[in-house]
Amino acid sequence: MKKVFIETYGCQMNVYDTEIVKSVLGRSGYQLTDQEAEADIVLLNTCSVRDNANRKVYSRIHQIRKGRKGKVQIGVLGCMATNFRKQLLENPKLPIDFIAGPDSYKRLPQLLDDLNGNGKEARNFDVTLSEFETYSDVYPAQGGGVNAWIAVMRGCDNFCTFCVVPYTRGRERSRSPENVADEVKRLAQQGYRQVTLLGQNVNSYRYEGRDFADLLEEVSEVPEIARIRFTSPHPKDFPRRLLRVIAENPKVCKQIHLPLQAGNDRVLEMMNRTYTRKEYLDLVDEIRALCPAMVLSTDIIVGFPTETAAEFEDTVRIMEAVEYDSAFIFKYSERPHTIAQRKFPDDVPEEVKTERIVHLNEIQKRHSYQKNLAHIGQVHEILLEEENTKKSADEFQGRNDGNKIVIIPRGSYRKGQFLNVKITDATPHVLRGEVTEVLEK
Ligand code: 5AD
Ligand code: SF4
Repeated sequence: MKKVFIETYGCQMNVYDTEIVKSVLGRSGYQLTDQEAEADIVLLNTCSVRDNANRKVYSRIHQIRKGRKGKVQIGVLGCMATNFRKQLLENPKLPIDFIAGPDSYKRLPQLLDDLNGNGKEARNFDVTLSEFETYSDVYPAQGGGVNAWIAVMRGCDNFCTFCVVPYTRGRERSRSPENVADEVKRLAQQGYRQVTLLGQNVNSYRYEGRDFADLLEEVSEVPEIARIRFTSPHPKDFPRRLLRVIAENPKVCKQIHLPLQAGNDRVLEMMNRTYTRKEYLDLVDEIRALCPAMVLSTDIIVGFPTETAAEFEDTVRIMEAVEYDSAFIFKYSERPHTIAQRKFPDDVPEEVKTERIVHLNEIQKRHSYQKNLAHIGQVHEILLEEENTKKSADEFQGRNDGNKIVIIPRGSYRKGQFLNVKITDATPHVLRGEVTEVLEK
């Protein structure tokens, strides 16, 4: 039996896809291992969204090959496989055996068979993107735990000019609500208490007239599932009914990841985000009017082509106005095939991008800390997720409804339990507290 080791880069969708790959290979007679050194086949499930993720993969490929003296087959999966197929397949110095894109994982066993003597080329590949593949018939091999991820839609049709996802993952397609609900029920039977619904843009979820708000309601009917999260919605045309479902359905966590990308209208237009700063700020006001405690996070890109200092200040002003609970801030990274790469030279100097990212990270750290300090004295309901924190075996780690990490003394609690915790301390990244009540949920 051949042993397979998989390493995952990038976003949660890739983490989920890795579980799909494990499931497909597992049922075709491959054995999975978490020891790279003993694997016959090493798969790298790659990300292409920014250049640094790419570079890491290239150096890993050489490192794996050097360490193993030729006895291992290396496959590149994921977004690099579709976006860099030419470079991957035609570079004779790159020691890989095959590539497979995000819609080709069901054909991996065939691809591996071909490679191992029953078939054709030495370097094999399958990077065809599909309009239909949703893997609705593959149950991902989730490792057991408290939270399970479920991809409810794949692909993206928005074509933000900086983003490679529409090219690497293809067109939008949604799984049926029934199929998603079946998977949620199965996960609930395995003991999961929380599901996180995943999609590149969940607002575009559509299935025979039903939308994402309908899907959330359907999933919330599964009794054992106590918490539902999702990521990410697009700020354009945010459905008002979806807002109401988030605010009113007790199982849907009061947390929205709302990618801003930039705070200036000219830059937003160049990015093809299709909303203005005013529309974005109005949406935030509406969210907060409906649910003042809503936890908001965002993604921001600094140094998009031609972004001036004054335009960057517009992003600063939005951050100061919204005061996000957390933010992921990135330097613009030019990606092959994107509209921005074809139309706009990457002309903001690296030092300027660095200055801008440092500045925004400082602002965010201040806001995260202020927000967390304001929780001291409050009682939060937390779901226990991890025994032992990174720092100590005497602690237990959970998350509150807003997805913030809450650390408590170890006690004799177990994963999956709900507790009321009085917050006693805060850093910019975590909350600490004392248990006031064990909840029956
Ligand atoms: N450069 C920098 N950041 C990017 N992102 C997507 N494409 C790029 C790029 N070319 C960021 C966006 C997106 C997040 C997942 O990654 O902020 O929301
Ligand atoms: Fe990329 Fe924009 Fe689609 Fe998000 S919505 S995946 S940023 S193209």
